Formats: sequence, structure tokens, C-alpha cells
Amino acid sequence: MVCGKLSQVVRYKTMWYFVVVVISVTLVTNLFIIFPTAFSMHDEHDSMRSSFINARLPRVDSRRIGQDSRDVAWDSRTSFSPPEKPVDTTQDGLITTERTARMPDPSLSTGGRNIHSDPTISQECQNLYRHHMSPPYRLSAVLLVRVYRHDRAGLSSREMLQWLFYLRYAGFDHVFVYDAYVGKKESQYHVLLPLVQSGYITYVDWSAYNPYTIKGTQISAYQDCVDNYGSNLTWHMAIDIDEYPFSPIDVEPNFMQRFLHNFSVENPHVSQITLQNYLFLGKPLDSQDNPFLIARLRRRTHKKGNDLGKSVFRVAQMRTAEVHHNEMRDGKTIDSDAQVMRLNHYWGARLQDWGEDTPRILKLTETDYSVKPIVDRLNRCSKYFGTGSLYMKRWN
Ligand SMILES: *[C@@H]1O[C@H](CO)[C@@H](O)[C@H](O)[C@H]1NC(C)=O
Ligand SMILES: *[C@@H]1O[C@H](CO)[C@@H](O)[C@H](O)[C@H]1NC(C)=O
Repeated sequence: MVCGKLSQVVRYKTMWYFVVVVISVTLVTNLFIIFPTAFSMHDEHDSMRSSFINARLPRVDSRRIGQDSRDVAWDSRTSFSPPEKPVDTTQDGLITTERTARMPDPSLSTGGRNIHSDPTISQECQNLYRHHMSPPYRLSAVLLVRVYRHDRAGLSSREMLQWLFYLRYAGFDHVFVYDAYVGKKESQYHVLLPLVQSGYITYVDWSAYNPYTIKGTQISAYQDCVDNYGSNLTWHMAIDIDEYPFSPIDVEPNFMQRFLHNFSVENPHVSQITLQNYLFLGKPLDSQDNPFLIARLRRRTHKKGNDLGKSVFRVAQMRTAEVHHNEMRDGKTIDSDAQVMRLNHYWGARLQDWGEDTPRILKLTETDYSVKPIVDRLNRCSKYFGTGSLYMKRWN
């Protein structure tokens, strides 16, 4: 009896110690998060606006890219994950039907658990990870990004991760992230590391290519990606973190792969498809209530906003990289039917100088929240993406 009581007391004590330790660790960790961000440098280098701004105010720099800076950039290049057994595919390798049984990817785990053998994870969420993740890739993307605090559009690391999750949903097998950070504190390496480890991301340190120019920083990154990884790529797209390929007729996972499959069957001579640019404008909803960027902006231009769409193309037929349309060696370039596939471009309040909605903006746009079924799914499955919160605003 006495002995039992004593051990109970000991157990209580141990529990209290545990609680105290947990609280202290949490406090210290939070301080860590708060302090570096509180004092981080405010750099007025505002060059990486959207490609729209770039296109209007071209700051083309003829600076050659020196071999030295290139070597610096190579050092932090992260390589592909080891190859795995290829999975069942159609002749072009694209997924044509939803819920095709795929080989579980052992490298894709959350907190040491394998997502495919965890009965607590719903089938719905498991299905989001049913792509094979090793090269060659059927569909890939390249991103040239600089995430920085004074970005008025508020595109923080959170929005970048959300976008990466969305591309995964759309059926992108792999994303090459070229990080053109200015100052170490802007580097997205640590934010992206879990996705590098899962094999979804290749991280390339592109900081040596600043100050930013379209040619010297952006197009050079796109070209570098094709030059270095192109032999493992089939369909590929250069795209920004506020640009979301969207199909009004297909919101199921892997819709982009189905689209490309359909398209190549119907148009075998097309090597490049341009997705038309539909702008989502206006003052965003509160990001506490709607953490996903694509849920915050629900007003879309009636027609395409401009000719600055983005193209998805066959790497093998590309000659030189450009931002919107690449120069192709052969094959035709055509626009996709916007009823089938378009680009949702989340600009927000840019045209109203970040202020309240104006009559002009309201007149230009109509309500469109047809992306909601995807947002709902992403919300249900976001905790398994493996990157930590997709809801918490953060900068690195
Ligand atoms: C292509 O992928 C294979 C693995 O399947 C890898 O060994 C090789 O290094 C990759 N090639 C390039 C150029 O990335
Ligand atoms: C692809 O084609 C199938 C069958 O015709 C159709 O059901 C599906 O909606 C198409 N998807 C896309 C994204 O084009």
C-alpha cells in the first residue's frame, strides 16, 4: 500500500517535471522564432514582382553569368533522391484515371511514419501522395523565387508551401526551386528541406544571380534547369507561386496529368501549350479565416487578363527558355481552351495599390470560387504534407 502510494507520488512528480520541461522548451523555441524575424534586415530590393510588372518594366541586364558565381551556386545543389522502381503508367506515362493503384513511396513519411501504412490517415489524403517521385518525371515545374518580408502581396514561405502542395495535387511529380534570396535570412532552404528529403523538391541556391534581372536571374534559372535535369523531364512548366493551373472541368487529384494526356492524344504535334492568364483581383479575405491564398481571393477577371500566360511544354523539343513561351525546336505552340485548363493568377489588391476594392476592380471581375473543392481537400490533408503548418505566416 505505502509502496503503491509512494510510486503514485513519484509518478505525479515525474509528470509535473515533464510538463515544466515541455513548457520551457516551447517558450525557448518561440523566442527563437520571434527574435531572428523581429530583427531581420529590411531590404528595399523590390525587384521580384510578378512577371506582369517585369514584362512592363524590363530591366534587362546583359551581364554575363560568370563561371565563378556558377560554381558557388552549384555547391548547395541538392541532388535527386535514389531511384525507385517505376510504377505502372500509360504509354506516355501520365496518369489518366484517378485512383490508379500506385506504388507507395517509402520516402514519403511524416514524422517517421509511412503515410501509406498509417491507418489513421484517410484514403483521400493517401491518394494525394500516390505519384511516383523518382526521375524520370512525367510532369515537373521550375520556380524562381525570392521570398521577402516587405512583399506587399504577402507571399511568404507559407504561400510558397501551399502552392507546392497544390502542384502536388495537380499531378506535378517534382519541382525545382531556384532560391534567389538576398541575404542568408531570406533563404528558404530550411523551409523546403523536408520536401527535398521526400524527393519532391530539388533546391538550387540561386542567390549568386542577384541583383535580379529577367535574363540574368529568371530566364537563366529556367535554362539551367532544363540544361541540367532536362534528360529526366518530359512535360515541364516555369511558373510563379501566385500562379495556379486550374481546370474548370476537372478538380480531382492529378488533373494536370489527365489534361496533358488528353491533349497529346488529340494534338500530337503540339509541343507547347499556353495556359491563359485569369487574374484574381481585389482585397483578400482575412488570412486567419482563409489561410490558403487561393481561398482568400474569389474575384476573377471575366476574360483573360493579359497575354502573359504560362506554358507547359515538352522539354525534348525546347530550344531556349523564355518566361512565357519558350522557343521550340519543333512542334506547335497553341493556347489551351480556358474552359478546360487555364492559369488562375492570384494578384489580389495590386491594381488598387493594396487598398480597398474600387468600382473599376469590381467591374472587371466576377465571383469565382470554383477552386473550393480543391481547397477543402488540401485543408483536410495539409498536415500530411510534411512541412509543418501551411497556415502559419512565416518568412523562412
Ligand atoms: C536522371 O535520373 C537518374 C535516376 O533515375 C539519375 O541517376 C540521374 O542522375 C538523373 N540525371 C540527371 C541529369 O539529373
Ligand atoms: C480528359 O479526358 C477525359 C475523358 O474524355 C475527361 O473525362 C476529362 O475531364 C479530361 N480532363 C481534362 C483535364 O482535360
